[in-house]
Amino acid sequence: MTVATHTAAIRGREIAFAGIDGAGKSTLAARLHQALNDAGHPAILVGKHSTEVPMDEELSAYVDRLNGLVYRRDTRIAQACSDHYWLLALAAWYTLQDELVIRPALAAGTHVILDNAHHKILARYAVNPEVPAHLAEQVFAHLTRPDLVIFMRIDAREALRRKGEFTSLETGHSGSGDEDFIRYQNTVLAQLQEQGERGGWLSLDVTSMDRDTVFKTAAGALADRLQLTV
Ligand SMILES: Nc1ncnc2c1ncn2[C@@H]1O[C@H](COP(=O)(O)OP(=O)(O)O)[C@@H](O)[C@H]1O
Ligand SMILES: [Mg+2]
Repeated sequence: MTVATHTAAIRGREIAFAGIDGAGKSTLAARLHQALNDAGHPAILVGKHSTEVPMDEELSAYVDRLNGLVYRRDTRIAQACSDHYWLLALAAWYTLQDELVIRPALAAGTHVILDNAHHKILARYAVNPEVPAHLAEQVFAHLTRPDLVIFMRIDAREALRRKGEFTSLETGHSGSGDEDFIRYQNTVLAQLQEQGERGGWLSLDVTSMDRDTVFKTAAGALADRLQLTV
């Protein structure tokens, strides 16, 4: 009897990061991506501007056009369209990136390091009175659930110190002072905390951790929780 040999790849793992602006998400994501590849675990770093659909120029071009509509627009356009509209546009973007970039990579056995996951958007909209409660949760509910979410908790004042400057979006358009940033980021942090408790996130207080300590702690979590050694 002959048995067809299936060499179906073992599914890759998706690792995402949550935390307020300046928590160190992008820094850790880039470092873990590098470390996984160096250790021989194929991994891609997916972020706000990842639009490449492997071996499909036409789809890549389409995904890039949508990215442009959502992220590369000028202030006048941003302000002319409602928060409600931007939520739906972001949901379209996240849906397409999930379908065309993330899922195929995971199915092929490639790990996905997801910088800029939707959790922060969910947190921002949860504290936005202009959009119906729960709508944000519903429009992102179908996205692939990460195998591990690393929640990087940080004191907002320390996040501000690290960033040095911030945008109007990062104060929830509430003002331009340091205290506006801190107040707003604290409401986002509290909302992320709720999501984290429901979602079983790995929570790390990174306020007084340097980059190396953050990396080593996260690498330990990858080994413990996902059996991935870097
Ligand atoms: N552990 C750390 N200690 C001190 N500064 C850090 C640390 N991690 C990141 N940074 C710096 O803080 C700033 C914000 O980091 P970033 O990774 O962009 O945060 P996020 O993506 O969460 O907004 C950057 O200038 C980065 O170099
Ligand atoms: Mg970032």
